[in-house]
Amino acid sequence: MSDFTHEAWSLYIALITVVSIIACAVLLKALSTRRVAKDEQVGTTGHTWDEDLTELNNPLPRWWMWLFYITIVFSVVYLVLYPGLGSFRGYLGWTSTGQFEDEVKRAEARFGPIYRKFLAQDIKQVAADPEARAIGQKLFLNYCAQCHGSDAGGAKGFPSLRDGDWLYGGEPEAIKTSITEGRAGLMPPQGALVGGDEGAKDVAHYVLSLSGRTHDSLRASRGKAKFDTICMACHGLDGKGNKQIGAPNLTDNVWLHGGTEAAIIETILKGRKGEMPAHKDFLDAAKIHLLAAYVYGLSAETGK
Ligand code: HEC
Ligand code: HEC
Repeated sequence: MSDFTHEAWSLYIALITVVSIIACAVLLKALSTRRVAKDEQVGTTGHTWDEDLTELNNPLPRWWMWLFYITIVFSVVYLVLYPGLGSFRGYLGWTSTGQFEDEVKRAEARFGPIYRKFLAQDIKQVAADPEARAIGQKLFLNYCAQCHGSDAGGAKGFPSLRDGDWLYGGEPEAIKTSITEGRAGLMPPQGALVGGDEGAKDVAHYVLSLSGRTHDSLRASRGKAKFDTICMACHGLDGKGNKQIGAPNLTDNVWLHGGTEAAIIETILKGRKGEMPAHKDFLDAAKIHLLAAYVYGLSAETGK
């Protein structure tokens, strides 16, 4: 057992365990043998409280003693069958990993065929299947909800997956790639390029104008020139974004980091980074397939 660096430690612990059990038995025996005869005067422990409250020195009741004996027998049987005595593995050979693997095997036998059936189907077809959606939702709550929300509605910095607006694409294959490989969206800070705080404010007003928000048109027209040279490389000349690199569409009034003037200025000055972890190392193909179908179905539902 890896917990013990040297075999002596195992012996040491086993010895303490055995000695303690024997000591308990001896102590019980010593306390239980002497019965008090009917007319014999019971001694006291010598303690007195509240002037006249004395503690009698009666032996423990029989049934109580037996309970203790039973626990001792139980511990001996347990230590013979199961691991517990130093590094001794117990005669049953039980291990917690073994039990876990058995449970996984049983789950695989039960759910494996269902998962394989869906894996063989097209994602759009799976998305329309109520049973698959129910499984997909459970998986989503387990693996995705902590970031995307239990209703997949997202939060600041974590995209909504049900609004039909996609950073990387909403086709079944794009969703699957997002889950399998993960995504890393990076916008470097642009403060120096746009000319500091004032420049950032101008560009921010142009960005506001793109989605029809209230803006200062003078600032916006100054900002447009900067946008067209600096920002278009990633967000496109029309500001509609680029799904290859996850640059958001700035014209649709859907915001990942916030659409107020202050939030946009912050984005421009400090940059933004979003990371969707890759799931291929701990989710198998069938689970990723079901999850992709579930996510696909979410926005298909809203008709977008
Ligand atoms: C640790 C947080 C985290 C977890 C867990 C997580 N995601 Fe994400 N996910 C993100 C972030 C952040 C992004 C946006 C990445 C970016 O800004 O470029 C994202 C992006 C996505 C996208 C792309 C969205 C788009 O608009 O193109 C999909 C699809 C997605 N996640 C699905 C899932 C699914 C399904 C799960 C569960 C298996 C999951 N995510 C688990 C944080 C997470
Ligand atoms: C190198 C590519 C790149 C450049 C250049 C770039 N951006 Fe971005 N921008 C991105 C990416 C990628 C994101 C998404 C970051 C994330 O995933 O969290 C983003 C996010 C944003 C957002 C947040 C959108 C939202 O929904 O909250 C705004 C606003 C924005 N950019 C504006 C600009 C402006 C204005 C400029 C020019 C000054 C600019 N960007 C330059 C790549 C870029």
